[in-house]
Amino acid sequence: MSDNTEIKVEGLTHRYDAREGPLLALKDIAFSVPRGRFVGLVGPSGCGKSSLLMMLAGLVVPSEGRITVAGQPVTAPAPDRIGVVFQESSLLPWRTALENVVFPLKLRGLPKAEREGRAAALLDLVGLRGFESRYPHELSGGMKQRVAIARGFCQDPPVLLMDEPFAALDEQTRMTLGDELLRIWDAHRKTVVFVTHGLTEAVYLCDEVIVLSGRPGQILERIEIDLPRPRTWEVMASEAFGQLRERIWSLIRVQQ
Ligand SMILES: Nc1ncnc2c1ncn2[C@@H]1O[C@H](COP(=O)(O)OP(=O)(O)OP(=O)(O)O)[C@@H](O)[C@H]1O
Ligand SMILES: [Mg+2]
Repeated sequence: MSDNTEIKVEGLTHRYDAREGPLLALKDIAFSVPRGRFVGLVGPSGCGKSSLLMMLAGLVVPSEGRITVAGQPVTAPAPDRIGVVFQESSLLPWRTALENVVFPLKLRGLPKAEREGRAAALLDLVGLRGFESRYPHELSGGMKQRVAIARGFCQDPPVLLMDEPFAALDEQTRMTLGDELLRIWDAHRKTVVFVTHGLTEAVYLCDEVIVLSGRPGQILERIEIDLPRPRTWEVMASEAFGQLRERIWSLIRVQQ
């Protein structure tokens, strides 16, 4: 393994025991991600993107195959190494926004002042200053999702797995948070795996996009997004940007 490899997936196949019998969700998945790379994962609904992310996070054990992160096998969740922000934000309803963000840091034994300072700064970053003491039921769907994003960032793990983190948000917030994510990624050189249905979002954010087939999910193609950064309006309006987006769409369209 080269020193630069952060995530390595080999021979991964997964079957669920569904009520109707075994369901083959993912088949022969293999890829590796160098440290600091921003990788997108796209594919039709139900092709196994969330399943793959849960396996990378150590939350689901694959039926076959092997996953390592920084050379260590992934066998159980390790939030200090691998952070996750899921599709449906799962906040603790009896804790305030600030407490939800602080919670993982508390588990890690960080001093109170430090963890609350860090959590408040991140809530500010996602546009929730003034909402620190609200409970989840007092927040909108988009605000809850932003608390979950702050919680993912707060743990400051070297690997960040994100499952459609911006899907429930309006376009403006999505773009603002996308830029924030890029800023954090750039400043801390995190390795990111980002699931999205947004093809423009994928091309805008990623260094590479992995396109999965319909179920059972298999890698159809890995597309290098060799566009300059920052991805300005000019870059977004360029022919190259449009062609990359089209290429991804042409692969997914026939899989729907
Ligand atoms: N716990 C489970 N038990 C049985 N089947 C499951 C389970 N979780 C997921 N599946 C099935 O595995 C397949 C892949 O699901 P998954 O949620 O990974 O897809 P996805 O690509 O994330 O879809 P979406 O884009 O809609 O979020 C689906 O057919 C789903 O029904
Ligand atoms: Mg999903």
